[in-house]
Amino acid sequence: MNKEETFEQFTEKLEEIFHLRSAIAVLSWDQEVFMPQKGIESRAKTISNLSGFLHQKFTSSDFEKTILKVKKFYDKKILADEEACIFKEVWRDFEREKKLPLSFVKELSRVCSEGQNIWAKAKEKSDFKIFLPSLKKIIELKRKEAQLVGYNKNPYDAMLDIYEPYATTEEVSLVFDELKKFLLPFLRKIKKSKVKISSEKLNGKFPLKKQIEFNKFIAEKLGFDFEAGRLDESVHPFSTSFNPMDVRMTTRYSEKNLISSIMGTIHESGHSIYEQGLSADKFGTPLGESISTGIHESQSRIWENMVGRSKFFWKFFYPILQKKFPDPFGKISFDSFYRAINKVESDFIRIEADEITYNLHIIIRFEIEKELLDGSIQAEDLPKIWNDKMKEYFGLKVPNDALGVLQDVHWSGGNIGYFPTYVLGNLYSAQLFEASKKDILNLEEKISAGQFGHFKEWLRKNIHVHGKMYSAGELIEKVTGEKLSSQYFINYIKEKYSKIYKI
Ligand code: CO
Repeated sequence: MNKEETFEQFTEKLEEIFHLRSAIAVLSWDQEVFMPQKGIESRAKTISNLSGFLHQKFTSSDFEKTILKVKKFYDKKILADEEACIFKEVWRDFEREKKLPLSFVKELSRVCSEGQNIWAKAKEKSDFKIFLPSLKKIIELKRKEAQLVGYNKNPYDAMLDIYEPYATTEEVSLVFDELKKFLLPFLRKIKKSKVKISSEKLNGKFPLKKQIEFNKFIAEKLGFDFEAGRLDESVHPFSTSFNPMDVRMTTRYSEKNLISSIMGTIHESGHSIYEQGLSADKFGTPLGESISTGIHESQSRIWENMVGRSKFFWKFFYPILQKKFPDPFGKISFDSFYRAINKVESDFIRIEADEITYNLHIIIRFEIEKELLDGSIQAEDLPKIWNDKMKEYFGLKVPNDALGVLQDVHWSGGNIGYFPTYVLGNLYSAQLFEASKKDILNLEEKISAGQFGHFKEWLRKNIHVHGKMYSAGELIEKVTGEKLSSQYFINYIKEKYSKIYKI
C-alpha cells in the first residue's frame, strides 16, 4: 500500500473513533442536563460500556497494524506537515494507552468511581479521615501510572501531560513561583486598602425567564452561534462539543444573583466559541481538536475576565442591563457596578473566587499534588498542610475539612494534574490579549461599541483553526512572539487593581 492509501485507511479508522467519542459526549451531556434522576445508573453503565469499546478499538491489533504502517512513513520523514502532526498526536495517545495494562486501567477507573462517592460522603460529614484510604489508593495508582508511562525528570510530568501536553513540572513551577511572588504581597496591599467593596448590592429578584433571555442575548452578541449550539442549565456550568456544528454549554441560575449566571455564560461562551471555531473539515483528526486544557481555559478566561470584567465591555452592556433590570441596577452607578464585579476577597472556596485569589487557590493545589506524586508529603498530612498554606497565603484559619481540603472533586476522580491548567489559562489569556490589542486597532473602543466580531475572528484565525497543529508552548510563541511568561498577567492585575483599590 502506498503512503496515500495507508494514510486514508488511518484517518478512516480515526474518524470511527471520533464518532464513537461524539456519541458518548451526547449521552454525558444529556445526563448532566436533561435526564430523569432514575435513569442515571443505567446511563452510567451505557457510557462505561461504550468507553470500553472505544478503548478496545483504539488499542486493537487492527488499529495498531495501521498506525505502525503510518509510523514507517513518519520515521522516513515523508509525511506532509499536517499528516505528520496527525500521526504524532495520535501516536502520543496510543503509546500512553498501550503502556497501561487493561487490568490497571480497570482498577484505576473502579477506584476513582468509588472514590467520588466516598469523597461526597466525607465532604458532607466534613471528615477527611473518611476519604483518606481512598485518596491514598488513588495516589498510589497515579504514581504507578507515572512509572508505567514514563517521564523525564519529575513523576508529575506524566500527570501534566494528560491535560497540558508537552508542559513540564519545571517550567510550570517557574512561572507559578514568579506569579506567587507578586500575588502574595499585592493581596496584602489590597487587604490594607481603604477602599472597601461590597457586592451585596448586586443581589435582587430576577425572574428565571428574563435571566435566560438576557444570557442568550449576551452569548449571541459575543459570537456564539445558536444554530450550531445550545445554552441550557446545569448544577455546574460546563461546555461540551460533539463536533464544531453542535456545541453545548450550560450556566447556572439563581433567582437572587443574575451576575453569577452571566459570568458563567461568558466563561462557557469562550470555551464554546473555541469549539465552534475548530475546523469542521478536520473533524476526526487532532487537527480538528483543541490543543490543551490550559489553552481551552485561556479562551474562557479571556472572554470572562479580560473582556467580561472590563470597563469597556460594560460600557456597552450596562445600559442594556439597567434597562432590562432597573431593580437594582437602575440605582447602581457604572463605577460602583464595575468595582462590585471586581471585588477581591480572600475566601476558603476556589470556585467563584476573584481574578487574584483564584490563582493562589490553584497554586496551593499544584504544590500539594507535585509533592504527593514525588512522595515528599503523605496523604494523611494533607489537612494540616492545606490549612497551613491557607493561613500563609490568605491569612485564613480553615474551620473544617469541607471548606478546606475536601472542597474539590478532582482528586477523588483521579484528575491529578488538572488544577494547574486553570492558572496556565489565566497566564495564556493575558499574553494573548496583549497580542490581540496590538493586532486589532482600537480593540477596546470596538468592544465598547458592541462590536465583538473582530476579536472573535482574531481568536479564530490565530488559535481556533489550527487545532492541534502546534503545542500550547509553540502557539503562544507563534502568536505573541514570546514564550509563556507570567509578566503579562502580573501587569494586567497590577494596572487594573491598583486603580480599583487605590494602591
Ligand atoms: Co473553564
